[in-house]
Amino acid sequence: MENTICQETLNRFDRYVMHTYAPGALFVRGEGAQLWDADGVRYLDFASGISVCNLGHCHPAVTAAVCEQAGKLVHVSNLYYNEVAPKLAEKLISRGFDGTVFFCNSGAEANEGMIKLARKYGSATGRNEIITMEDSFHGRTLATLAATGRAKYRKGFEPDMPGFVQVPFNDFEAVKAAVTERTCAVMLEPVQGEGGILPADAAYLKQLRAFCDEHDILLLFDEVQCGMGRIGTMFAWQSFGVEPDVFTMAKAIANGLPMGAVVASRRLSGVLTPGTHASTFGGTPLVSAAALAVQETFDREKVLENCVCQGEYLMQRLREITAPYAFVRAVRGKGLMIGIVLDRAPQELAGLILKKKLVVLTAGENVVRLLPPLVITRAEADEALDTIAQALAEYAAGLGPEK
Ligand SMILES: Cc1ncc(COP(=O)(O)O)c(C=O)c1O
Repeated sequence: MENTICQETLNRFDRYVMHTYAPGALFVRGEGAQLWDADGVRYLDFASGISVCNLGHCHPAVTAAVCEQAGKLVHVSNLYYNEVAPKLAEKLISRGFDGTVFFCNSGAEANEGMIKLARKYGSATGRNEIITMEDSFHGRTLATLAATGRAKYRKGFEPDMPGFVQVPFNDFEAVKAAVTERTCAVMLEPVQGEGGILPADAAYLKQLRAFCDEHDILLLFDEVQCGMGRIGTMFAWQSFGVEPDVFTMAKAIANGLPMGAVVASRRLSGVLTPGTHASTFGGTPLVSAAALAVQETFDREKVLENCVCQGEYLMQRLREITAPYAFVRAVRGKGLMIGIVLDRAPQELAGLILKKKLVVLTAGENVVRLLPPLVITRAEADEALDTIAQALAEYAAGLGPEK
């Protein structure tokens, strides 16, 4: 980057920001599915800030709601009522789940809340173990790391918090075999995100539902990445027809402002009582107003319908354009949560795609991950497909005759 503003930013970052990230580009402006860097170069964004800006960057309805609320009331704490958070909770619940909502700030915090709820529920019968899945990702706090099914994230942060046991994903018998008299919950992502865009089998989820009911075990869904419309339904579980007891959301709820939510079925709404759980910033008027605008926009702009339609189109076209390449094993996913599965590490191909000004992500050991805004147009889908086709051809040419 030659731009002097960029160089100053890079210097500041290097010296003053803790090096937990290795950023790939510097963006200064966004609109819809487009981003611009400090040199004015345009990119098409098929990452959405990792499934956060689901309505695209700076959606006018969200911007207007934030500006209006910022001039009225930003924060009062949860020691007092605010008008906006209950409206948002009502709107979320009206989407088809009878229950109550706890608001917080991030995915990990939402999962912490869900884990605490499950342990509190289990404490009445002396149970506190939670079965989670291999290759899952639930966050970076100590409890959510212990729940996460990839050891590499926990390395160096031992000892692991006790109370979690991992089993293979999509394997009902493995869950049954892992259950003990101390099991209080089973926790999973309906579509594994960081693990490599792996959808659960609907039949597996149905078996789990029946088994959990039979044994008074809570079924917990982490919808932090796959929820909020990403796979074509507002809540991911609606795509599978299997209702969890508790589920979490975060990332896209407020389209870029930090918010997380724990949604528990009505029968569990009394488990966490005053004083047992809290979050200073949970459900501030400002962020709730943004999230309410997101909900209204989903209805007004038929965002779910667009997600399903563009998702089917992209998946089908991706299968066609990747077919000639032996190093592509599959294209999989649901809605606009799509993985191009390779037979090798995905970073080089993803880097090539980024060089061509299409922002994409990787996942797991071998997946190029596409998470475009749910509002993308057919023209933007086609633009991305062209870019990916070019990158695949260039990548294959660089490999020589072996491919
Ligand atoms: C499924 C899932 N759960 C939890 C998290 C953690 O969310 P956060 O980074 O907001 O804490 C993530 C983040 O990628 C996620 O994909």
